[in-house]
Amino acid sequence: MPSSEYTPCFYCSEYLKIAQDYPVNFASKDVTSFTPRCFLHWEYKCSKCGELTHFNGISWCSSCKEFTCLRCVEEKMEKEKFLIYDYYYKIPCQKCGEYNPALDFAEYEGSHPYQIGDLKPEEDIVMWMPIYKNQIKPQEFPHKAWGSERILSLGKAPKHPRLESLDNYTPKSVWDDLASRWISPETEGEYHHTHIILPNLYNMLDVQRDEKILDVACGEGTVVRHLAKLGAKVTGIDISKMIDRAIERENKEKLGIQLMKLNAEELMNEFKSGFFDKVACNMALMDIEDYKTTIKNIAYVLKEKGIFVFSITHPAYAWPASTAMRIPIGSRRNEDRVRILLNYFDERPALIYYWDVPGLHFQRPISAYINELVKNNFEILEMREPKASEELVERYPRKAYLDNDIFAEFLLIKAKKKSKL
Ligand SMILES: C[S@@+](CC[C@H](N)C(=O)[O-])C[C@H]1O[C@@H](n2cnc3c(N)ncnc32)[C@H](O)[C@@H]1O
Ligand SMILES: [Zn+2]
Ligand SMILES: [Zn+2]
Ligand SMILES: [Zn+2]
Repeated sequence: MPSSEYTPCFYCSEYLKIAQDYPVNFASKDVTSFTPRCFLHWEYKCSKCGELTHFNGISWCSSCKEFTCLRCVEEKMEKEKFLIYDYYYKIPCQKCGEYNPALDFAEYEGSHPYQIGDLKPEEDIVMWMPIYKNQIKPQEFPHKAWGSERILSLGKAPKHPRLESLDNYTPKSVWDDLASRWISPETEGEYHHTHIILPNLYNMLDVQRDEKILDVACGEGTVVRHLAKLGAKVTGIDISKMIDRAIERENKEKLGIQLMKLNAEELMNEFKSGFFDKVACNMALMDIEDYKTTIKNIAYVLKEKGIFVFSITHPAYAWPASTAMRIPIGSRRNEDRVRILLNYFDERPALIYYWDVPGLHFQRPISAYINELVKNNFEILEMREPKASEELVERYPRKAYLDNDIFAEFLLIKAKKKSKL
């Protein structure tokens, strides 16, 4: 048994990192957990409901000499930076209604019942006093001691830096750089494309002979080549050098595919209205800067009742809305992988690193895509969030187990352009 005498309190230790000389009490509570705590930073009994409550969810009224917990009354949020926090709760006394801060802020301002002598702690603890406030270092938020930040600090999670502007990177420039490194699903059997995404995309496209199909952001041409082999009349466009590989492949083995270096946001300038029967866009809409103009252009080049099928990384579960890491670091077992949701609503462009080369990703909520389709007269026919089959899990356990079988990493949507009334 580890002796509690020697385990420092989690809160005291975090406060010490920023407040010089903060007295670190030994933990006597929750000693074997991630966050052992001292008597001061433990629980207090609400005078109304009698429940023991974490110190950050209960206030002390020095007039009534009573504790009130968050469960019994309605708190207010006060935005103010102190210690490792950027707000505190004001909790009204259940007796007199006066607002008092929760005990974390009370300690900081010196109104904690142990500081003012209203109560005497039952264990030996040393109290910090607010006369030392001027020794506190300024903090950055989110703070390293906060829940998900604390978990992230336990391991190595890929970071997805957000950009305020695109000055140094554009979708074209990053994909020009990535082109020589990109793994072709056909030649190298890239797992996600081959087993999770493409079978669904092809199935939803339901290609018929001689259909005119446009592949938007076709990259190195895997999708266009597959569709051409099924007998469709295929056109592929892409903004970057990625298409050079598609052209190379076409030159080697001619399938009659039209390939063009073109920005998806400018399809209208190149193709007649209603020219295509179907449009595909595989794993690219989240890489395209102006998805609104792109969807508008796709609606324009598509005939009435034409079909648009696209796949994207799942806006809610994939990077950069979330990240993943293993604890312990380096474990090869998938049950040791934790996924951490970051900010689903942060639409600033994110850099996502493939090897050491950055890619650009434009995070948008699912509703953004759906609403843009609806606005452009599309009817949604089907959505898919592919789940790995048992066979796939067995064949690729390290990739699929507790991963593609428990959450959706990709989202596919099939929409039909409605006919005009
Ligand atoms: C992840 S790759 C996917 C390529 C291909 N569709 C596939 O499934 O392998 C994303 C592609 O989007 C292209 N792209 C990004 N922005 C574009 C734009 N505005 N117009 C056309 N292509 C664009 C990139 O050049 C890159 O080839
Ligand atoms: Zn403590
Ligand atoms: Zn209560
Ligand atoms: Zn009171």
